[in-house]
This record gives sequence, structure tokens and C-alpha cells, in this order.
Amino acid sequence: MEKIRTLRGFRDIIGEELEKFRRIEAVFRKYCDLLGFREVELPVLEKTDLFVRSIGDTTDIVEKEMFTFTDIGGDSLTMRPEATAGMVRSYLQEGLYAKERMTKVFTIGPMFRHERPQKGRYREFHQIDVEVFGVKEPLVDAELIWMVHMLLNELGVERYRIEVNSVGCKTCRESFRNVLIDFFETKKGELCEDCLRRLERNPLRIFDCKNEQCIRVTEDSPFLFDSLCGECRDHFELFERHIEGFGIALNINKRLVRGLDYYTKTVFEVTSDDLGAQKAFIAGGRYDNLVEEMGGPATAGIGFAVGVERFAMLIAPREGKTGKLCFFAFVGDQARDHLIPLLKACAAQGINLLYSYEGKSLKSQMRYADNLKCDFVFILGDDEIQKGIIMLRDMAGAVQHELPLDPEKIVAELKRLTNP
Ligand code: HAM
Repeated sequence: MEKIRTLRGFRDIIGEELEKFRRIEAVFRKYCDLLGFREVELPVLEKTDLFVRSIGDTTDIVEKEMFTFTDIGGDSLTMRPEATAGMVRSYLQEGLYAKERMTKVFTIGPMFRHERPQKGRYREFHQIDVEVFGVKEPLVDAELIWMVHMLLNELGVERYRIEVNSVGCKTCRESFRNVLIDFFETKKGELCEDCLRRLERNPLRIFDCKNEQCIRVTEDSPFLFDSLCGECRDHFELFERHIEGFGIALNINKRLVRGLDYYTKTVFEVTSDDLGAQKAFIAGGRYDNLVEEMGGPATAGIGFAVGVERFAMLIAPREGKTGKLCFFAFVGDQARDHLIPLLKACAAQGINLLYSYEGKSLKSQMRYADNLKCDFVFILGDDEIQKGIIMLRDMAGAVQHELPLDPEKIVAELKRLTNP
């Protein structure tokens, strides 16, 4: 019979990778606590319209990457491709704009995009996402970069670049649009099919194209960064000043436009050359119009998402094992009866006692304990029971000595050995 395997681009996260996931999450939670972010759990499935309206109908995500289907009731539903849209929906649905001056929230979970799978790019992947609603000051832009910086430091990522840009507001974008169209009209022959469409519908998207020739064309193009309106320029300059205060190095990348349409002003990506083709492992920016566009009051917003799979590729595996391991080897039915009282006494003291369920021969149990890399083995057979003792073998020195067959005393000795 054919074995059932995971879907293309979907994976089991296990072993060392899962340990890294949990470590990244733990450090992230610590900084969320420190900076006053509250956790929320969002549904994985939402109405398709939520993503089309927020991410934008000319983006790659909405045009070709969403897992969308019609459910039994005839509604068009989509597996979330990112978290910001759901965060905005939740902010509005819970009426938080009327309840608190500003809202700082985070969420952790799987996202789904129907992309061509490759290293660092999957159809199901995981994000840690933070969002701040209601703060328009650039101090919060800098605070988020500082948060990222602390996260990278604590997890030992050394080779990375923080790339920032400003994509302006509606005013600067509208006046720049024509400058951009005039420029690309003269280069039409060199643009790919997709970019010709982008030129009609959303010319800024051309900067997001991965085609070598299109990238070359954009090298000589004018940049929105150089045509920002007064307010957007002031915002960026103040942001830079705060970042300097935090002592963090930034790289301005005027080509950075991001793959989602909701951004305004500050956008950023953290990239690493150690990742191969998919370099960005953290990305985000400001979206000051999105809450209003989704039907709420005018409310500033900013956030970022960590791509957990890519982040995990940049951190070292945890070295060695954490505590000492103990094993209980028993031979015979009578010896087995001593397992449960000993197990209960160990559990009450938080000691992890390993054993093989079937008992079997002492030799095979010792081999099993050795495979598990146990530090100590307790051995109990009919002889020991008759003498009222249990043998304790120190696997490193291959020495053994006797202890009274009394769970209290055994556990006390175990505690001494495991927490010297
Ligand atoms: P994004 O750039 O689309 O932004 O995704 C953020 C991060 O998720 C990427 O930098 C990458 O590390 C990871 N990622 C994206 N697609 C994949 C994939 N197919 N496989 C593995 N990892 C992937 C957003 O999603 C925005 N919602 C971020 C944001 C939050 N902006 C404001 N707030």
C-alpha cells in the first residue's frame, strides 16, 4: 500500500529544529513581556476578503499564493498567509481602539503560502508576529528595531544586516507614481511580463521583481526615498536619530518595497547571507492607513514578523544534554512491583526515571540504558530484594554500590547525584 506522506512544502518539525523553535519563542516571549506586548491567538482560517483587502490584490501573495477554497456553506475562505491582517481584524472586532490608548500584541503560529518550495521557503511556515496600534511617533519604529536587535544578540546571530527604507505616504506615492511610470515607459522592452502588468497597476511592485534583467533596469531608476514629502522625511530622520540613540547600525536600502501593499513610511528587513536565496528572516514596517481602510477609525500601526524556520537556520544547536539521566533495571515480577513506588517518589521530586516496560534480561536493559546515555542505573533482582538492597551503578566510572531498598532513601541519593 502506498504510504501517505506530508503535502509538498509541508513538514514535520522535530528534534533539533523543534528545540531551536522553542528557544526562539522563549527568548521572544521574554522581550514581549519586557516591552509590554500581550499574546493573542488568532484563527488560521479567515474570510478571503480580509487578505485581499489588506495585503492588496496586485501582490504575489494574493494573486497566486493563497490557499483559498469554498467551504460547504459557499463562503470563500483562506488559510492565513500572514498575521497582520488577522491582527487588524481582531483589533477592530474587539473594539480595542475605544478601550486603550495604544495596543501592543503578539502572536505565534503557522502561516500558509502556495510558493515553490525550496530551502527556507515552505508552504506551511511559522511566524512570530508583533504589532503596535495607535502610535504614530517614530520612537516606536526604533523600539521595534531595538527589540529585534536584542533578540538577535541573545540568540547568538552575528552575521546579519538591518535594511530600512521609507515607502512614504499616499501623498508622496501619488506624486512619485508618474515619475516612475515615465522612467519605466522608456525601459518597457527590458521588463518581464509580470513587470509590464505591474507598470499598469502598481509600478512600485517592479522593485520587488526577482528577475535579473528587471533588477538591472531598476538600478538607474529614481527612488521614492529621494522624493518623500516633508512629513515622511521628518519621520524617517527622527527614526534614524532614535536608532542612533539605541546604538544600532542600519543600512538604508532604497530598493526595499516589501511584498505587501499596506505599508507606509518605515519598512525594514533583517537579512543574512548565511541563508542562501531567501535572505530575509525578519520583516515588517509601518501601516498607518490599514486600520482605517479595514473600516476602523484612523489609527497608526506598525509591526514585524520573524520567519521562525529561517531564524532557526542561523542559531547553533544546544550543546550537550541538560541534566543527569537515571534508569531502573528490574529482573523478575517481584522486582517490577518496586517500580511504581519508586517512580511515584521520583515524580514527586521532579526526577525523570527511565526504564524499559518489558523488563527482559539485565544485559539488554543495561544496553538500553547505555544507548539512552544514562548516567546512573539502579539494578534490582531477586537477590537484592532478599538482602533488602538495590544496586546503584555509576555508568561513567562503571562502579556500583548498595543502597537500602527504600524509595525515600533512593530518591534522596538520586537528588544528591543529579544536583551535586
Ligand atoms: P513577510 O515579509 O511576507 O511579512 O514575511 C515575514 C517573514 O516570514 C519573512 O521575512 C520570512 O522570514 C518568513 N516567510 C515568508 N514566507 C515564507 C515561506 N514561504 N517560507 C518560510 N518563511 C517565510 C509579513 O508577513 C508581514 N505580515 C510582516 C509584518 C508584521 N508587517 C507588519 N507587521
